[in-house]
Amino acid sequence: MHVVHDTRGLPKAEAYQLVLEQVSALLEGERDGLANASNTAALLYEALPDLNWVGFYFLRGGELVVGPFQGKVACVRIAMGKGVCGTAAVERRTVIVPDVNEYPGHIVCDAASQSEVVIPLVHQGRVLGVFDIDGSVRGRFDDVDAAGLESVAALLLEGSDWDWLPR
Ligand code: SME
Repeated sequence: MHVVHDTRGLPKAEAYQLVLEQVSALLEGERDGLANASNTAALLYEALPDLNWVGFYFLRGGELVVGPFQGKVACVRIAMGKGVCGTAAVERRTVIVPDVNEYPGHIVCDAASQSEVVIPLVHQGRVLGVFDIDGSVRGRFDDVDAAGLESVAALLLEGSDWDWLPR
C-alpha cells in the first residue's frame, strides 16, 4: 500500500516540495505513461487541499480526449483551442483561471469547480495533451501552484514512455 502525505496546512512551496518528492518516488522503476499519469492524478488529489478534479486529457485524433483522472465524470472530448484545456494546448502555456465563471469559453464539467489551472504536456516538441486541475474555491491557484504543477508534469513526462499515444 502506498501512503500519501497530505500537505494541508503547509505553506505552498513546502507542499509542492513534498508532492514532488512523492511523485518522484511513485514513478521510480515504472515507465508506463498511462499507469504513471493515473497514479499522479490520484496522488495529487489526495495530497493537495481544495481540489475537486485532477486529471489528464491526451491529444488523440486531433482532439483532447479525457484520460486518467480523479473527481466527477468529465466531458470526454475537447477541441483544440476550446475551453481552458484547448487554449493551454494550442498556446503551449500554462493557463491559470482564478474564477471560471469569468472565463469566456470555459467548459463546465463539474458545476462545483470554481477555479482551474491547465498545464500543457509538451514532450520533445510535441503536445501530448494537458494536465488539468480544478479548484473547489475561487483563486485556488497562483504562480506557486503553476510552478509546482509544471514540475510535476515535467517529472511525469520525463519519467514515462509516450510512444503508446497515437500521433
Ligand atoms: N474546464 C475545462 C474542461 C475540463 S474539466 O474542468 C475536467 C475547460 O474549460 O477546458
